[in-house]
Amino acid sequence: MTTAAPFLIVAIDGGAASGKSSTSRALSEQFHLLHVDTGSHYRFVTHQLLERGVSPEDEAAVAAALAALPLGQRIVGRSSVIEIAGQIPGDEIRGPRVNENVSRFAAVPAVRRFLLAYQRSQAQVARTGGFRGLVMEGRDIGSVIFPEADFRFFLHADPVERARRRAAEGQTDSIAERDRLDAARKTAPFVCPAGATPIDSTHMTLPQVVDHLAALIAPRLGGSQP
Ligand code: CDP
Ligand code: CDP
Repeated sequence: MTTAAPFLIVAIDGGAASGKSSTSRALSEQFHLLHVDTGSHYRFVTHQLLERGVSPEDEAAVAAALAALPLGQRIVGRSSVIEIAGQIPGDEIRGPRVNENVSRFAAVPAVRRFLLAYQRSQAQVARTGGFRGLVMEGRDIGSVIFPEADFRFFLHADPVERARRRAAEGQTDSIAERDRLDAARKTAPFVCPAGATPIDSTHMTLPQVVDHLAALIAPRLGGSQP
């Protein structure tokens, strides 16, 4: 008798430049998991709302604008990329304007409600696409989106080291201010949830972090590679 391979959900949360994206992409590659970057969802929605002149302080206007944004996804390599009205995000979502505003929109309950069902639906997208699971990165994946995930990792890194990493990428970013706003919001605040596995990557290289997580995940997949 053969046993069906398990479908794994891996949640990776952490602050800006803690290594979420690089780590998630590497695990996605290694284990054939669908990769979903939920930060890009908040960034793209922020960009769309700014383009429409909507302020994060005006929750009614935010809700009305969201109702006119049809969501979808496009599979690009091993990543599920968000589509809004058939368009995928470009470099504009990493620019200073979005960096300065994304945490303010991400604190609006209507925005979080709007993305919650969409983000949960990515598990089905992964199953339909024949992936062995899902690796989703963000700020509230292990706490709110998939609290029952098979693995819930929380990446820490010293703020000075995180600022160094972001600057090395040539980016202007207000990491400390986003951290503060993300932790202070009432809906889905940014916290390491009870039961999650914390990893302090301040003095670890990216391959060291990836190897550490991969060693925990591999036994659950029967040690087999795709
Ligand atoms: O790449 P970086 O870690 O700098 O940020 P990101 O993951 O792209 O997320 C950008 C912003 O989106 C965060 O600062 C949060 O305000 C928001 N976010 C969130 O609230 N919840 C998530 N699951 C993911 C991102
Ligand atoms: O997604 P997030 O903002 O959490 O971080 P990232 O985009 O994966 O990583 C930000 C930068 O830090 C990238 O250039 C990574 O190569 C680098 N990094 C590092 O130097 N050491 C680590 N342990 C993790 C990431």
